[in-house]
Formats: sequence, structure tokens, C-alpha cells
Amino acid sequence: MLPKRIDESKSTGTMLLTNVYIGQKMGSVKKGTIKKLLVMEALPKPINFTGGMDPLTYGGSFTLERLLGTVPVEEDGSAFFEVPANRSVFFIALDENEDSVKRMHSFTSVMPGEMLSCIGCHEKRTTVAKPAQALPLAAKRAASKIRKIEGIPGIFDFPRDIQPILDKNCVSCHQPSKRDGNILLTGDRGPMFSHSYYNLTIHGQFADGRNRTHAKYEPYEIGAASSPLMEKLNGEHYGVQLSLGEIKKIRYWIESAAVYPGTYASLGSGMIGGYQKNKQELNNDSQWPTSLRAADAIRRRCVSCHTEKSTLPLNLSDERKLSFWKPEIRNKMLLTSRHIVFNLTRPQQSLILLGPLAKQAGGYGACFITGADKKIKPAEIFKNTEDPDYQAILAMITAGKNKLNEVTRFDMLNFKPRPEYIREMKRFGVLPESFDPTKEKVDPYLIDQRYWESLWYQPVIGE
Ligand code: HEC
Ligand code: HEC
Ligand code: HEC
Repeated sequence: MLPKRIDESKSTGTMLLTNVYIGQKMGSVKKGTIKKLLVMEALPKPINFTGGMDPLTYGGSFTLERLLGTVPVEEDGSAFFEVPANRSVFFIALDENEDSVKRMHSFTSVMPGEMLSCIGCHEKRTTVAKPAQALPLAAKRAASKIRKIEGIPGIFDFPRDIQPILDKNCVSCHQPSKRDGNILLTGDRGPMFSHSYYNLTIHGQFADGRNRTHAKYEPYEIGAASSPLMEKLNGEHYGVQLSLGEIKKIRYWIESAAVYPGTYASLGSGMIGGYQKNKQELNNDSQWPTSLRAADAIRRRCVSCHTEKSTLPLNLSDERKLSFWKPEIRNKMLLTSRHIVFNLTRPQQSLILLGPLAKQAGGYGACFITGADKKIKPAEIFKNTEDPDYQAILAMITAGKNKLNEVTRFDMLNFKPRPEYIREMKRFGVLPESFDPTKEKVDPYLIDQRYWESLWYQPVIGE
């Protein structure tokens, strides 16, 4: 007879980790380094419009992750803790500086009242547990409860939680009128992401492991500890000094997969040239009259010089044959991508207009002619903003801005999720059948939360 392993009256189960230092590539981690486990939850998705991760990330995570909190790890590497039942959890081993030493790249779950144990971080699938020399320290005490991390949201949303920090500390040097290092960190919207989110991604500022599988990472290879962004916050970057609270937010935003929206209501919405059924059929502007005129202007005025790595997109949707789902970080072509040269919040501040516009007219005057004697001469492409081709490109961007305002993005006040999202939420019983998104206000963060809660295990009380 197998004894019953679960208890339906409980809403949690317990997990015993015997020794976190046992595992692939864990040999170099000194005993005593790991102080806590960060317990994370992979959040179920109610709907999908494409096989990609957009617009959650640009080439990174496909899902949102909730930071449940931390549990202590004992000197001998053991941990014993409660976990909410039937939820998809995974772990990140943290050192005394809260830096991530190792990350679990999958998820597991525990049944109500069940106790699971595991060896390290991890043993190989083909090995068996060795008889324990001694009872793990954590097994000698009661199971720890997960402790919430103070001062950070459970689920991050980049425009809501991170952009204000950049606005306060970074944009004075990283905006269209002062673009140090050619980096824009403003929250202005591009066709799919904000400029800051896109730039932090393509300049490799966070180590999220990207969309890679079967990678056996070294300790400290992924997470905040190895993210160049963290080095910009501690006073070493042009005197910028963030508060401890701000640094903490950025740290845990990175640990929770560095996503752009913090809601699944963003899926399939708020994009110009977005993907649906893996085709770029969502508000694709390539055949809009404004875009055809702008493409004609770009072909006549720009492409003779803009070749190879510095080609320009011909319209707001033009990916220039770059893989959208596996962008090669630090590929020079990404510097003139549609995601950064078009500013749909402030069209006149678009890089594609400022670059070729003469300095006297408020542009960068960035375009040059390279002569036979290798001397470089400034090439005034647009002497002023009256140039009809300047106006054609501006009209294309303005049309994109208007369309975006009409379809709305998750970070806009009047945001409307896709009808399919509302339909699914009604099917799941999260929204009443009578709910009318045109008349009632939608709080996507609250609806998502109710959806996840609807899947949580409810203990069976009595018979
Ligand atoms: C922080 C390090 C770490 C800790 C601690 C950890 N894991 Fe994992 N886990 C991993 C990694 C890394 C993988 C992915 C391994 C791979 O694909 O090679 C993984 C994968 C898994 C998988 C999927 C296995 C598969 O075949 O795909 C399960 C199940 C799992 N872990 C359960 C657990 C349990 C139970 C515990 C203890 C409570 C635990 N893990 C603790 C790092 C960890
Ligand atoms: C006082 C001006 C100033 C402020 C404020 C500032 N930066 Fe910079 N930043 C620069 C300059 C100058 C460069 C270009 C030279 C260089 O790379 O060091 C630069 C370059 C960069 C780069 C590109 C280089 C690299 O490491 O990849 C990034 C990313 C960056 N900054 C991020 C930030 C962030 C994030 C903040 C806010 C926390 C910030 N900066 C605040 C002046 C500033
Ligand atoms: C005579 C050659 C030439 C022409 C024509 C030209 N450019 Fe350029 N452009 C350059 C060079 C050279 C650079 C600097 C090197 C680079 O970024 O590739 C440059 C830089 C740029 C940049 C990057 C600015 C930056 O600092 O990141 C943009 C954007 C740009 N050009 C847009 C345009 C647009 C739009 C047109 C057409 C309306 C155009 N260019 C026409 C030569 C040219």
C-alpha cells in the first residue's frame, strides 16, 4: 500500500532542498555563499496571438514571472520551505549581496500537503541520491514561510516601475536633444517597445539568458549580478547615484525576466507592425499611402549611402529581414532598427528625421559624404523641415502615432485590451458575461490577477 502523499485540506506543500552546492557547474561556488532562495512563479498565459514573445520582451522571456519572496538557505546548503500548492514555481539562489548565483530554467510544483525533496541545483538526471551523511540542517526545524521582498512589486511593469527611475536619473543625458553614447532612455514609444526598453535590450544591459535553450550556465552568468545596467547605478557612471530602493527595483526587475509590460492584456495589442499567427499582419503600415510616400522618399534620398549595417527601414513595420524573435544583440543593424528610429510619441524627435536634418534646423547633421581622399564632408540631406521628403517621413510617423492612439498600448490611460482577451476572461468567469469594455473601465493588472487566482487551489474543507 502506498500511503497517501497529499492532504486536500492544505493550500500549501513543502519542499526540502538537501544541498544547493551539488549540481552542474556548482563546483566553483564556495560553501556558505548562498544565503537565500528567491522563489519565483511562472505565470499562466490566458491567450496567445503568436508563437513569439512579443510584446513581453524583445527576444527574451515568453512569460511573466511573479516574485513570491525568499526563504533562507542554511550553512550546509539545505532549505526547507512552504510553497503554494499547484503553482508553477522555480528558484534563484542568492548570495549575501542578493546577487543571483544560479537560476532554475524550468519549473516544478507541489501538491496540497505534499512534501517533495530535491538534490541541489541540480544533480544529473542519471544519478541517484547518495545516502545522507547527516540530517540537513533545515530538516531539523519547521518549514520556512516565503517572505515577501519589501519595496518591490510582485510583477514588474517597465513603464510603470522602471521608466520613472530612468526619467529621474538617466534621461538628462540620454534623450533626443542630448544623446550621450547614442543611447536614448526616454519612455517614448516606438512601434512595439519604448525606446528605453529597446535600447537596454540591444545594448545587452541585462543578462536574461535570452531565448536560448539547453544552455548550461556558469554561476553568476545570468541575472542582475552580470548585468552591465547594474554598473550604471552605483556612482561609477558619470556620477549617477541611485537610491537603494531604486537599485533594488532594477535588480529584481532583471531577476523577473526584464519584461516590458506587466500584463498579459498587452498580448496582440498596442503594436504597429505587430505579429499575429507569426505573420506581421497587425497594423502593418507598409501599404498605407503615408508609408508608401515615405518609402519613396527614403529610397530616393537615403539608401545610396545607407547600405550594409546602416540600412534604414522603409516603413514603420520594416524589420529589414532581421529575425524578430532571435535578434543578435549588438548587431550594428539594430542601431537603425524601426524600433528606435521612429518616435511615435513625439514624431519630430524621431532619429530618422533628426539624423539627416541640418544642425541649424535643430537636427544632428549626422550624415556625411566620404570623398576619394578620405576627407569627410557634411552632407546636408534636409536643410530644413520644409523639405517635402522630410514632411513625407514625418507624415508616416504621425499616421503611426494616430493609429497607436486608436488601438492603444497597455501603458496608455485609455488602454483597451483585445476583444479576444475580454472573451477569454468571460469564459474563465473572471469578468461577468455582461461586461462591456467600451462602457466600463478595464484594469488589466487586476483582471490578470483575478484570472491567476481563479486557478489557485482551494482547500477542500470537511466532506
Ligand atoms: C538555483 C538552482 C536550482 C535549485 C535550488 C533547484 N533547481 Fe530545479 N532546475 C535547475 C536547473 C538549472 C534546471 C534545468 C536543468 C536542465 O534543463 O538541464 C532545473 C530543472 C528542474 C526540473 C525540470 C527537470 C526536467 O527534466 O526538465 C524540475 C522538475 C526541478 N528542477 C525541480 C526542482 C525541485 C523539486 C527543487 C527543490 C525544491 C529544485 N528543482 C531546485 C536549478 C535548480
Ligand atoms: C551626466 C550624463 C549621464 C547620465 C546622467 C547618464 N549617462 Fe549613460 N552615458 C553617458 C555618456 C557620456 C555615455 C557615453 C560614453 C560611455 O559609454 O561611457 C553614456 C553611455 C551609456 C550607455 C552605453 C554604454 C554601455 O555601457 O553600453 C548606457 C547603456 C548608459 N549610458 C546607461 C545609462 C543609465 C541606465 C543611466 C541612468 C541610471 C545613465 N546612463 C545616466 C552619460 C550619462
Ligand atoms: C551622402 C550619404 C548619406 C545620405 C544621402 C544620407 N545619409 Fe544618413 N548618414 C550618413 C553617414 C555617413 C552617417 C554616419 C554613419 C552611420 O551612422 O552610418 C549617417 C547617419 C545617419 C543616421 C544615424 C544618426 C545617429 O547618430 O545615430 C540616421 C538616422 C540617418 N543617417 C538617416 C538618414 C536619412 C533618413 C537619410 C535620407 C533622408 C539619410 N540619412 C541620407 C550618410 C548619408
